[in-house]
Amino acid sequence: MITLSPSLLAADFANLSKDIDMINRSEADWLHLDVMDGVFVPNISFGFPVLEAVAKICQKPLDVHLMIVDPGKFTGQVKALGAYMMNVHYEACPHLHRTIQQIHDAGMKAGVTLNPHTPVCVLDDIIQDVDMVLLMTVNPGFGGQKFIEHSIDKVRRLKELILKTGSHALIEVDGGVNGETAPRLVEAGVDVLVAGSYVFGAENPEARIKELKNL
Ligand code: DX5
Ligand code: ZN
Repeated sequence: MITLSPSLLAADFANLSKDIDMINRSEADWLHLDVMDGVFVPNISFGFPVLEAVAKICQKPLDVHLMIVDPGKFTGQVKALGAYMMNVHYEACPHLHRTIQQIHDAGMKAGVTLNPHTPVCVLDDIIQDVDMVLLMTVNPGFGGQKFIEHSIDKVRRLKELILKTGSHALIEVDGGVNGETAPRLVEAGVDVLVAGSYVFGAENPEARIKELKNL
């Protein structure tokens, strides 16, 4: 069964506890948290004070996606949240192997994220060391964007690399996931779906989560 990680970026920030209660009740597996710094991406979302408040009431494992420069610097703070998965961008980590090691040493699962233009082949020498690869299927920074079609082929190439190397990495996709793209992504080999606006923009988000879980 697919793992579903709804993205809090599309929630009602004036009523976060209401939306997190919904996530707690729902069939969602994880909660995806998008941290932006206005430097690595052209937008700012929320930072640690908000994450700490969310972590206190969320009962699902936290899937933290850092869209920031030098993400390794915050490993201790992400760990302090009790996060399950810490995702760092390939493009933001000149010493990616060391950063992955630091995440593991802190007791978390480590994910590496690729921007849409970054090819899968850059993972050749790190795929054995990561627990997940997060493929951006839109340009990071904003919710509600159009899915980049080329991503389906990229998922297939990543799946091939994983099978060829015997890596245990999961494939997660983020951006433009909806009722039309999700089945095609799952068919291509995706293990974890992130969905922001498709879940929180629904009249009944809990039912929409159920729909994605039952693909
Ligand atoms: C974008 C974020 C996503 C975003 C996805 O930079 O990483 O997690 O919330 O939003 P949707 O699902 O609306 O494309
Ligand atoms: Zn994200």
